[in-house]
Amino acid sequence: MRKTVIAGNWKMNMTPSATKAFITELVPMVKGMDKCDIVLCVPYVDIATAVEAAKGSNIHVGAENVHFAPSGAYTGEISADMLKEIGTEYVVIGHSERRQYFGETDETVNLRTKAALAAGLKVILCLGEVKEQRLSGITDEVVAMQTKLDLAGVSAEELKNVIIAYEPVWAIGTGLTATPEQADETCGVIRKTVAALYGDKAAQDITIQYGGSMNDGNAKELLAKENVDGGLIGGASLKTEKFTVIVKAAN
Ligand code: 13P
Repeated sequence: MRKTVIAGNWKMNMTPSATKAFITELVPMVKGMDKCDIVLCVPYVDIATAVEAAKGSNIHVGAENVHFAPSGAYTGEISADMLKEIGTEYVVIGHSERRQYFGETDETVNLRTKAALAAGLKVILCLGEVKEQRLSGITDEVVAMQTKLDLAGVSAEELKNVIIAYEPVWAIGTGLTATPEQADETCGVIRKTVAALYGDKAAQDITIQYGGSMNDGNAKELLAKENVDGGLIGGASLKTEKFTVIVKAAN
């Protein structure tokens, strides 16, 4: 049976001191809620603090990006080995904000994914359609294509360390949430694409999250859907109470 994973994506929020305070508060709130995995993906400079504050708890720590080269002349970038050494377990790759503002393409998403997996990180691979694509009725084709391109060259064994986050771009930070039916349907299309690439068992086992204005008010309905195995949460992951309600909904 596949795992439900509730992950926060803090984006460019929270300093190290705020990170320490947040996680110290969150640890007792989510204690014993073990029916889902709990992950906080945080800015690079917060990772070491987060790992320390989460030690001994059921909270796992992730990064929000990683470079694909092992080392070298890439000013300002961070490698997978650097992340591993400070206790990072997960990494978000291909977030729409990276694609939109920082020139991320399916090709670089694929390179990052392979580098992260080779280093032993778990990948939260983000994909999803923009508004015009949904309105044109090509959502299924878009997510199927992204799934194929982003996973090119990833082995069946490596796929066990991949979570896919379906994040319709029009739902991110907008307060517009996909309906549970839309989320279920498109996560289902992604699962079918994984089945075509890796077989039915792999498709049944892979965790596919929904992300895009998921919050304490709508999480339960979204998570109740067959093909929705968790959430990648932005805004609502910055408040311990809201995030805890979402984790509880997954339990
Ligand atoms: P919001 O939950 O703020 O819409 O952000 C979703 C997201 O981008 C998670 O990666």
